[in-house]
Amino acid sequence: MDGLDTLKAKYLTAVAGAADETALEEVRLAALGKKGEVSALMAGLGKMDPDARKAAGAALNVVKDEIDAALRARKAGLADAALDERLRTEWLDVTLPGRPRRMGTIHPVSQVMEELTAIFADMGFAVAEGPQVETDWYNFDALNIPPEHPARQEHDTFFMHRADGDERPPHVLRTHTSPVQIRALMDKGAPIRVIAPGRVYRMDMDQTHTPMFHQIEGLAIDRNISMANLKWVIEEFAKAFFEVPSVEVRFRASHFPFTEPSAEIDFRCSWEGGQLRLGEGDSWLEAGGCGMVHPKVLRAAGVDPDHFQGFAFGLGIDRLAMLKYGIPDLRAFFESDLRWLRHYGFAALDMPNLPGGLSR
Ligand code: PHE
Repeated sequence: MDGLDTLKAKYLTAVAGAADETALEEVRLAALGKKGEVSALMAGLGKMDPDARKAAGAALNVVKDEIDAALRARKAGLADAALDERLRTEWLDVTLPGRPRRMGTIHPVSQVMEELTAIFADMGFAVAEGPQVETDWYNFDALNIPPEHPARQEHDTFFMHRADGDERPPHVLRTHTSPVQIRALMDKGAPIRVIAPGRVYRMDMDQTHTPMFHQIEGLAIDRNISMANLKWVIEEFAKAFFEVPSVEVRFRASHFPFTEPSAEIDFRCSWEGGQLRLGEGDSWLEAGGCGMVHPKVLRAAGVDPDHFQGFAFGLGIDRLAMLKYGIPDLRAFFESDLRWLRHYGFAALDMPNLPGGLSR
């Protein structure tokens, strides 16, 4: 029995003195491991006679359980201490200012789209969307461009291939954002005030044309909207977008099948030493088309032209971006050259808004 007490005391001392979990594991192996001291005594029980074995076995089991309990308690204590130590040393001051890391840049077209959305939202326009693959009904017919109309040829349309034998008219890549006028009206009805920025496609390629480019459509339909409202909206837009106190807007008579009357939108500007200045000078800059929505278009979209009327406009977003940010070649927009993007790009997470300034 004395031997067992000594054994127990030895291991309880060793457990208490184990400085970390590795040292503690060594103690456990020395006592309770397969080749440990307690295990050896257990194995020795077999050689005893039955009575002695019973008494010695019971006593040995008590010692074994006590050592085991001490090991477990110490282990939990060491784990807590280790955690406390980590919590003490591995801390992070979340109130420190962040270290800015540049996460790519915003493409000028995306930037301008955000700017346009902010400007028109301020005037009460919601954003509408439509598909880039359109039916020819939305892209043409509903906009008063019937099948044999010459405007269909002018648009240099990309047609989508149909399976052999399919007699229906092919889908097209939308040639303008105007089909969104129809979709928005059919969806929401009148009165309505929406813009629709997005991609459009025409077969064309030179310094100022790419097969894919961006437009923004505007549409305002109500009971008493006139051309004067249209002109005001365009002027307000131009001042806000170019961040100048005034822009002179000229409406030049034009023709679109879906508006009547129709006008081309020009902004007064000057080119001094190759530098474009808006709002002054003797030059005019073409920005897009507009007009009063044709009664046939309203009717096609399920709106009664005897009660509702309004205006629509379409502006080229890429051109607006080139002008505002002095980008000379349109094709560079779509070449994905990282050096170009870093030069003209805008900081990520820097959302344009009117009070904070559109382009910082
Ligand atoms: N959809 C015309 C174009 O792409 C622009 C436009 C839109 C004209 C709305 C008038 C009204 O050229």
